[in-house]
Amino acid sequence: MSRILKIGIIGSGGIAGSHVKAYRELTDVDIVAVADVIPGKAKQFIDFWNIPSAQPFDDYRRLLELDLDCVSICTPNVAHYQTTIDALKAGKNVMLEKPMSVTLNEAIEMAQTAKQTGFMLNIGFQPRYDPNMRIIQDIVQSGQLGKVYYIETGGGRRRGMPGGTFISKDIAGAGAIADIGCYSLDMALNAMGYPKPVTVSASSSNYFGTNSRYHKEASRFDVEDFGVAMIRFENDLVLNFKISWAMHMDTLGPTLFLGTEGGLKVTPAGKGPWSGVFDGSVGAISYFHDVRGQHVESQIPVIEHNKNLFHEKVRDFVHAVLEGKQAPIPGEQIVRNQAIIDGIIRSSLLKREVTIDLE
Ligand SMILES: NC(=O)c1ccc[n+]([C@@H]2O[C@H](COP(=O)([O-])OP(=O)(O)OC[C@H]3O[C@@H](n4cnc5c(N)ncnc54)[C@H](O)[C@@H]3O)[C@@H](O)[C@H]2O)c1
Repeated sequence: MSRILKIGIIGSGGIAGSHVKAYRELTDVDIVAVADVIPGKAKQFIDFWNIPSAQPFDDYRRLLELDLDCVSICTPNVAHYQTTIDALKAGKNVMLEKPMSVTLNEAIEMAQTAKQTGFMLNIGFQPRYDPNMRIIQDIVQSGQLGKVYYIETGGGRRRGMPGGTFISKDIAGAGAIADIGCYSLDMALNAMGYPKPVTVSASSSNYFGTNSRYHKEASRFDVEDFGVAMIRFENDLVLNFKISWAMHMDTLGPTLFLGTEGGLKVTPAGKGPWSGVFDGSVGAISYFHDVRGQHVESQIPVIEHNKNLFHEKVRDFVHAVLEGKQAPIPGEQIVRNQAIIDGIIRSSLLKREVTIDLE
């Protein structure tokens, strides 16, 4: 008989339901426990999703006492650090929702704990599973752009501010920069092989979120809804990043890779006020280069697909655990993503450039 992985879910809010749906598509997993800090919420979740085999807990530490193979951590951002550390130390493989953490120090400790315990820490960046991301990565890494010296990424929603869990620092830690910016950074940096960031100069604001004309929860909104940064990396690469949950503009532009031999422009898919950020699907990929001195622009065919990227990420995690492989999206790598977010927040507060201290 094939092995069945026993899964626990920590945090039973909105995104936890997507984890249940993804696990349900797999034959080699069984959801056996759910925990939520709000008394009775885990039980309601179990009833709603009809998982009678699962035990409810109000304290995730009791869930971690069970003999589980994996946990999905679906808590708000500020709880990612402690739940992950405790889960790894309890011998569970962790599928952690994005962003990895709130601070860089937390992310470093989380990755170190995964290494020390030998259990997997996998970060939930599902846009990586769009097959077009592989095209972008292949082109960037093939060398056909020459030396890539500049990247521009991020993007903006005309109106697309979430509420609830996402808009107060004491629950979310940060706003648009962490929520959707982490995806743009991940896709651009993953294409480049995750270079090491060294300095950040950034600025952020929240003129829309704190204005009751634009947000119905303006009185509790204290994260940023806009951020802009210039990030320097080792080997003379710079990245210009901008991200916005709301603005009086249709777009903040596509993602660009400028190289000495070619350039790549990636335009996000979708239309409407919530689109325009490089945080998911790809609309167009344009390749610019010279042929015998003539300027050539080619459209790289975009792969149309109906994959559920969220399900792909959960499936990949489960298979990696079953097959004893490395984490598909390892915490150790995503520390660099978190380092940039941490740097943007620090630089914005200090209103000057800051250094990023990473080994
Ligand atoms: N990958 C994606 O597409 C995606 C989409 C939405 C949200 N997310 C991420 O998922 C996380 C959760 O977002 P959400 O929208 O589900 O939030 P939510 O507020 O709907 O749910 C979070 C749940 O966690 C519970 N919780 C808080 N602290 C806890 C703790 N210490 N132990 C146990 N439970 C705890 C809360 O009571 C709540 O029920 C966030 O980090 C968010 O960034 C990812």
